[in-house]
Amino acid sequence: MARGVDHGLVDLRSDTVTRPTDAMRSAMAAAEVGDDGYGEDPTVVRLQERFADRVGKQAALFVPTGTMANQIALRLFTRPGGMVLAGRHQHVVAFEHGAAGANAGVHLHTVDDEAGVVRAGDVCWARAAAQHHWPELQLVCVENTHMAAGGTVWPVGALEALAEAAGDVPIHMDGARLFNAEVASGVPARELAAPAATVMTCMSKGLCAPIGSLLAGADDVIDAARGERQRLGGAMRQAGVVAAAGLVALEQMIDRLVEDHHRARRVAEAVAQRWPDAGVVPESVQTNMVVFAHRQVPLLLAHLRTAGVLAGTIAPGVVRLVTHHDVDDAGIDRVLVALRSAP
Ligand SMILES: Cc1ncc(COP(=O)(O)O)c(C=O)c1O
Repeated sequence: MARGVDHGLVDLRSDTVTRPTDAMRSAMAAAEVGDDGYGEDPTVVRLQERFADRVGKQAALFVPTGTMANQIALRLFTRPGGMVLAGRHQHVVAFEHGAAGANAGVHLHTVDDEAGVVRAGDVCWARAAAQHHWPELQLVCVENTHMAAGGTVWPVGALEALAEAAGDVPIHMDGARLFNAEVASGVPARELAAPAATVMTCMSKGLCAPIGSLLAGADDVIDAARGERQRLGGAMRQAGVVAAAGLVALEQMIDRLVEDHHRARRVAEAVAQRWPDAGVVPESVQTNMVVFAHRQVPLLLAHLRTAGVLAGTIAPGVVRLVTHHDVDDAGIDRVLVALRSAP
């Protein structure tokens, strides 16, 4: 187990609570570095190249957070007043403190994404609406896996259909957990991301790196992204110290995500058993999340806390349990016991 604060609780609030592994800490200590402001940090360059190759794009840019990568994508493809179509529960809409409006000045056109996907028909409609006094559609954002829908994976065919509907309007994929999607579906990340002009992935979630996300796309797009990163204050210097952990994340931490997915299934079965009406279908839990509605969330969270389990919420009345590297089978056993007696 990696060193760090261990409060003795099974922490299912998020996979962002994972701590860097010992291999990451060693790689960070030994990282070769330079000034990335001049493009001279060899470890950052290596991570960018590896990621770009992994997701099938020409180039990539290392950024501090997934939120910044999403914001850069908005600024790359839109002009103030332009319209961005996104699912109403996506991170770029609901969990970035209004950044799309503040940083890119865009009009967010939000559509139904209860099932974790954006429908091609909604994109056709939004494109056509420009002929009827609506703002011009300049970007479509999708999320893979889709967090609020319970970590669901975009079927490749559905994304291809979306891209066809979008025509020359680019797609940005928020793939904060793209490698969870790869592991769950068996489809390589580069295929999952192929219809998207840009794709973002976080190293700092289930892959356990302490900091860092990457944005990948065509050479000219990533050149422009470098300028946008600077505008947002995200240019870093000897960032190889953290990029080194990202390299370990890509090399060592992807295949094991399947363990988190198995554990999420066990949690989903317990939730479905305790609350058959909560809408959780264990067989449809594809990755590392269980999201469900509960009538008395504060009571439930307090009960779990007393039983040694930390749970999170993502909306009023909506609970989220996330499995990850720092929770093992014994931890899940504790969760199951706590759920059985939950209010
Ligand atoms: C789907 C999704 N996209 C983007 C982000 C943003 O990542 P960060 O916390 O690094 O800004 C998150 C964070 O939890 C996320 O879940």
